[in-house]
Amino acid sequence: MSGICAGRVVVVTGAGRGLGRAHALAFAAEGARVVVNDLGVGLDGAPGADGPAGPATPVGPATPASPATLASPAGPATPASPASPAEAVVDEIRAAGGEAVAHGGDIATDAGAESLVAAALDAYGRLDTLVNNAGFLRDRMLVNLAEDDWDAVMRVHLKGHFLPLRHAAAHWRAEAKAGRTPVARIVNTSSGAGLLGSVGQGNYSAAKAGIIGLTLVAAAELARYGVQVNAIAPAARTRMTEHAFAATMAAPDTGFDAMAPGNVSPLVVWLGSAASAGVTGRVFETEGGRITVMEGWRPGPTADKGARRTPAEAGETALKLLAGAAAPGAVYGA
Ligand SMILES: NC(=O)c1ccc[n+]([C@@H]2O[C@H](COP(=O)([O-])OP(=O)(O)OC[C@H]3O[C@@H](n4cnc5c(N)ncnc54)[C@H](O)[C@@H]3O)[C@@H](O)[C@H]2O)c1
Repeated sequence: MSGICAGRVVVVTGAGRGLGRAHALAFAAEGARVVVNDLGVGLDGAPGADGPAGPATPVGPATPASPATLASPAGPATPASPASPAEAVVDEIRAAGGEAVAHGGDIATDAGAESLVAAALDAYGRLDTLVNNAGFLRDRMLVNLAEDDWDAVMRVHLKGHFLPLRHAAAHWRAEAKAGRTPVARIVNTSSGAGLLGSVGQGNYSAAKAGIIGLTLVAAAELARYGVQVNAIAPAARTRMTEHAFAATMAAPDTGFDAMAPGNVSPLVVWLGSAASAGVTGRVFETEGGRITVMEGWRPGPTADKGARRTPAEAGETALKLLAGAAAPGAVYGA
């Protein structure tokens, strides 16, 4: 297949549904061979809930990796079960004339992440792009947020970004050291919740903010190995949003369906292609037909006394500086 990703091998985590599925289809349509990863869990990370999810269940167990989804680090790629969401997306890609394989492992385990990279190398002999996308929600107000809801969400989003990134980066570093510096790309998935905060999503907002920090460090550390790392903060109609934000996410009867997940994918495909050369360490908000470069923390008004202040002086200075500073963006849902 021709296209801006012809010849590239792309891994997309959580690609059995929603945004990840749209990304996988879009990469394949641009000529990439795709490894479609999905563990096939429920909206709250509960295992085996493949059907449309209702509201998140109350405190549940942390997402265990079932033995069937875990490969030994040195072992073969973990196949997805024939009825799995990952396999269904592979079927769609193949039906459209593309190339794809499924991977049913848990990307938030070291073994799952390692076998995901191995799946690309085993199937196609190379890896060019990693899209970290998998995740789920356990929304609660902070006073009701159980330790397990915190751990599960931090694990799937933050660790679930770090581990595939680490294994992919180790492969690319080895390639660079062998004189084959890659044109490698990582696209991470943050959220407006991570950029501005979101009421009822303290765990998710913290994890998604962490993904921005991880993106900045990875972009700086991996540039020498030919790897560019960027992040998106998307919005689209998926099972994660279609009930919680029903009015915003609804498809119109006619005209542009702004909240279709496929609207987010073109930017992801471009960031994942060789065409995005020179773009790294950036964060983009994207939904519908809009793409916004997010400009993050940078120094605002500042004052240096050249000596230690008393608390009262510090307060006086802080208030003076705040008077000249831009107001922060509103927290979602506040
Ligand atoms: N939909 C939005 O508007 C929106 C907004 C901001 C951020 N996001 C982010 O986009 C990403 C995709 O979300 P979505 O809306 O498509 O949700 P989704 O629930 O439709 O898809 C997520 C997929 O990830 C899979 N998954 C979960 N845990 C996994 C694991 N440990 N290993 C492998 N796969 C796993 C699930 O089985 C599911 O198919 C998430 O990171 C989400 O936080 C979405």
